[in-house]
Amino acid sequence: MRFGPNLLEEILRRTDIVQLVGRKVKLTRRGQAFWGCCPFHKEKSPSFKVENGRRTYKCFGCDKGGDAFKWLMETEGLSFPEAVEKLAGEAGVELPQWTAEDEAREEKKKSLYDVIGAACVFFETQLYEAGGRAARDYLKSRGLDEAAAKRFRLGYAPQSGTALIGHLTAKNVTMDDMIAAGLVRPADEERPTRDFFFNRLMFPIADPRGRVVAFGGRGLTADAKPKYVNTGDTALFSKGRQLYNFAAARPAGLKAQTIVVAEGYMDVIALVRAGFEASVAPLGTALTEDQLHLLWRVAPEPVMAFDGDEAGLGAAHRAARLALPNLRPGHSLRFAFLPKGEDPDSLIRASGASAMQTILDSAEPLARVLWRGETEGKDFSTPERRAGLERSLSEIVSLIADGKIADYYRREFEERVFETFKRRKPARTPYRRGAAAQPDPVSPAMKSSLLAGGIGVRKVKESELCRLLLEDPEIAARQGETLAALHFSDPLLDRLRQELLNLAASGSRLEKRGLETHLVRAGLAELVENLRAHGVQAPASQESADGEDSRFLQVAAQLRDMAERVPERMRAPKHVDLEMTEESWRPNIDRLFGLRPKE
Ligand code: UTP
Ligand code: MN
Repeated sequence: MRFGPNLLEEILRRTDIVQLVGRKVKLTRRGQAFWGCCPFHKEKSPSFKVENGRRTYKCFGCDKGGDAFKWLMETEGLSFPEAVEKLAGEAGVELPQWTAEDEAREEKKKSLYDVIGAACVFFETQLYEAGGRAARDYLKSRGLDEAAAKRFRLGYAPQSGTALIGHLTAKNVTMDDMIAAGLVRPADEERPTRDFFFNRLMFPIADPRGRVVAFGGRGLTADAKPKYVNTGDTALFSKGRQLYNFAAARPAGLKAQTIVVAEGYMDVIALVRAGFEASVAPLGTALTEDQLHLLWRVAPEPVMAFDGDEAGLGAAHRAARLALPNLRPGHSLRFAFLPKGEDPDSLIRASGASAMQTILDSAEPLARVLWRGETEGKDFSTPERRAGLERSLSEIVSLIADGKIADYYRREFEERVFETFKRRKPARTPYRRGAAAQPDPVSPAMKSSLLAGGIGVRKVKESELCRLLLEDPEIAARQGETLAALHFSDPLLDRLRQELLNLAASGSRLEKRGLETHLVRAGLAELVENLRAHGVQAPASQESADGEDSRFLQVAAQLRDMAERVPERMRAPKHVDLEMTEESWRPNIDRLFGLRPKE
């Protein structure tokens, strides 16, 4: 930054704003302030006020206002640096000159953009050369066609290990620049200077202005180690401050007032292709505060769509913690939980954009995720454990810097604690030692519960089951018992399930066409069409009737698993009810939450 805040402050302090504005507007003194007719809109009686004390001007009619810099920008069309230069000159404040070093640094940066730009074009071309065959095959195997490759400027870094050096040398790029751009590894004891990326599928990473500044390179085989190599930090690129696809996602996100954060490059590409254009990913590291602020400049509640595995869940929790000190009124985070073992890329490929939409629609607010993280699957059968919960909740609250928001969180947690542990049995039930006091087995870790997913995940799985049934209605007859024991959370899907059960029970032959007609008559035409529209190609291994059934049974088991995890776990076992009534517990809650966390 050429102009530091102190310098700007100094210029404003030495500027007589009344005199400055007075050059254009006739002002008259009234008390401490000066008033005149607003130059920004037509008026007869003065509502335009200038004050040297505040060093500002303001119109109470049209709401225009600002400091001396703003005044020059608004009335003389100057840019900010120009306004600063002009006022500094008038106020006799000396501005730091661009040093020769500054100039050199800027020049150097400019040339690095060109170097990386040239490398990007080189990788792109290589993808379509003979040597790029394996990379092209790999892309195909991941469902990406040439249009997608072109859109994301995907490329291929050749096997040789010096191909890029050769190419750039021929373009008169110096070795120093190649190294500074992060494209070449300098020589060490073991090996000579060599390309940073070789035999990898290349994902260019652009800065917020859309200029390519770095690359991620994916190995083409499952055993490639590491799976991704990324450009290290350079003069142009800082992995903790930028996001993959941000330049393209920003306009879309501003328009839609939402932005999705996935974990990987492939996820972003799949999301964008499925119509979720406002999608970004961090660059191989955990989300940082700087990245959060970037996201909040686009949308008030970015949606974290991390992978449905332990690592993804961990990343979600880290993001949640990271957000706390940075929460401001009206900006927060939401969390979309993917089905176990899926990432956005695999989900979209397997179940289509609508499944992803369902997951995003059911994204949960930050407060709820924090609560679930502290409670689910945990056992609160002893007072100590409950007190422990309250302590971790108030610790969360104390991490929130904004006082108002902290208050709301404290209240919300308080209500949840109250709801969860409130007495459900008359307090007079005699307390029996022995059988009733059996300790509750410690429940499975909360992670498994969160991984089991929310409503969105359930709906996706229910849809999948229905699609299988539409494909092969006989499953309903063969697996009637399993189907009958399930209950779908989505009412429409549940009706379809019931219709199938009824048909199966009536003994009529279940075949595709007949079933369809039946469902249309039952008013489920739209649902059937939707399910079919996002139909999924059955995996090759599941062509036999047996295969269909096994997939059906697998998904049914997943659904059962989800249904079982949620209920009752949270509730305290009976003997605790007797010890812990609202009355006995309440003072604890008040004490813990009554403590105001540090400001
Ligand atoms: P994932 O392992 O989830 O990869 O890493 P992915 O995006 O699903 O990749 P595919 O589908 O297997 O191709 C998520 C992100 O973490 C970074 C990359 O940015 C990747 O997109 N990463 C991962 C690395 O930087 N290095 C690695 O070795 C692995
Ligand atoms: Mn993936």
